[in-house]
Amino acid sequence: MKSLFITFEGGEGSGKTTQIKLLAEYFKNNGKKCLLGREPGGSQGSEAIRDIILNGSADKWHDVTELLLFQAARVEHVERVIKPALASGNIVLCDRFLDSSIVYQGIGKGLGVQYVEQIHQLTLGNFAPDFTIILDIEPEKGLKRAKSRSHHETRFENMELEFHKKVREGFLSLTKNKPERYIVLDASGDIRDIHATIIDKLG
Ligand code: TYD
Repeated sequence: MKSLFITFEGGEGSGKTTQIKLLAEYFKNNGKKCLLGREPGGSQGSEAIRDIILNGSADKWHDVTELLLFQAARVEHVERVIKPALASGNIVLCDRFLDSSIVYQGIGKGLGVQYVEQIHQLTLGNFAPDFTIILDIEPEKGLKRAKSRSHHETRFENMELEFHKKVREGFLSLTKNKPERYIVLDASGDIRDIHATIIDKLG
């Protein structure tokens, strides 16, 4: 069976986690081998890195250090989990991937899109998703949703609204260069309708 690498991207509270679980269920119900991952995280070492990136004050890390930590977690995840899973015919679904670094660190924090792409190229070459689903939501709505969840990983949620507006625009701008890879959906709609659209578009 053909392996496939699909990533989900979007701002805070865009419902990625809900949609990715529904899609994994759908694939499994259709007899496909499917692995679910998240970034930062998805492997033992990457989950340890997740903990130190996502907790604490907004200025805890220098912007470059922060990017390197995200990419370090990504290398662990890709080399130890994602590539082996793809090699054995799995569909791999990942909650965030390189596009989050491009948008949050490259555009939001201002390191530059090319800078982030170069770090990726140096460490993981051309490794990229087959498809990326972007769940688009107004930052005001998404942040409200995200803040109503009780969790402690709030470092990014706590950044100012202007930052989240840049993140939203950043995701939308990515799709212009590679329209064949991206599926952009309005994340404010009904959960089941969004799920049905995702299946339809991937089909
Ligand atoms: P996630 O757990 O997906 O948060 P949420 O479900 O609230 O959207 O991601 C954690 C945070 O990490 C999120 O605020 C985005 C940020 N992030 C980056 O800034 N760069 C990255 O490369 C990744 C993967 C995530």
